Amino acid sequence: MTQLIDGKQISKQIKDELRDEVQQLNVQGKNACLAVVQVGNDPASSVYVNNKKKACAYIGIGSKAYELPEKTTEAELVSFVEELNRDETVNGILVQLPLPSHIDEDKIIRTISPDKDVDGFHPVSVGRLWIGEKGFLSCTPAGIIQLLKRSGIEIEGKECVVVGRSNIVGKPMAALLLRENGTVTVAHSRTKNLKEITKRADILIVAIGKKRFITADYVKEGAVVIDVGMHRDENNHLCGDVDFEDVAPHTSAITPVPGGVGPMTIAMLMNNCVETMRTQEERP
Ligand code: GUN
Repeated sequence: MTQLIDGKQISKQIKDELRDEVQQLNVQGKNACLAVVQVGNDPASSVYVNNKKKACAYIGIGSKAYELPEKTTEAELVSFVEELNRDETVNGILVQLPLPSHIDEDKIIRTISPDKDVDGFHPVSVGRLWIGEKGFLSCTPAGIIQLLKRSGIEIEGKECVVVGRSNIVGKPMAALLLRENGTVTVAHSRTKNLKEITKRADILIVAIGKKRFITADYVKEGAVVIDVGMHRDENNHLCGDVDFEDVAPHTSAITPVPGGVGPMTIAMLMNNCVETMRTQEERP
């Protein structure tokens, strides 16, 4: 029997747990506020930003949304982020990506204070992750670890194959699986004999960015398959990097698209925002 991993339900469960925790932290006088910065008005980004504001309202943390014009210069955005770094009423800063092409995203990511880096994209956050220090975790990979754990799937000692090596998903995913004592292989577009490698996986994580790329012949019988992709097919239906209909019958567990990994990203962003409150507690 194939287990369908329900990201919507697990995301709701995490948000409800966070909501309870926030109520308790509020009683102790701890509050959090997330600043979300959007440059320009890309419609997809506007949907994401709105969902983030809604999630903040649901779990009971503050949010401030800033919509800056498309023509904002890099220097202006740097100053704006520096101001948010200094603002003591702001605990988390998220600059929605992608940014307009005249702005260097890396420069903006590096400008965000690592103490407020709730996306976990700053090189300091990335370094902390790799050396096993406490810090903000990149939201999508952290969400995948939660999907696995809360579905009763053990990672320790398993052959884990990550297909994709982006800074946002593939690389932090590999670090997190390693932290959970998985045996990790990272495959990518230049990998030779990709099928041979993916067929070794007990846990296969696919973030390759190609519509329905992974078919049954890439998957070992009984593997767990996690699909990070999100595309529109020729009929305008959402689909992932995995050919779900073909692959699912051969797996022990699989995430659907939509309703798998997608909803977890916001839940883990909220967890990072609550983390800024938990660490306030540790201060004298
Ligand atoms: N754009 C798409 N996903 C993300 C994300 O997780 N964080 C930010 N900052 N921008 C995004």
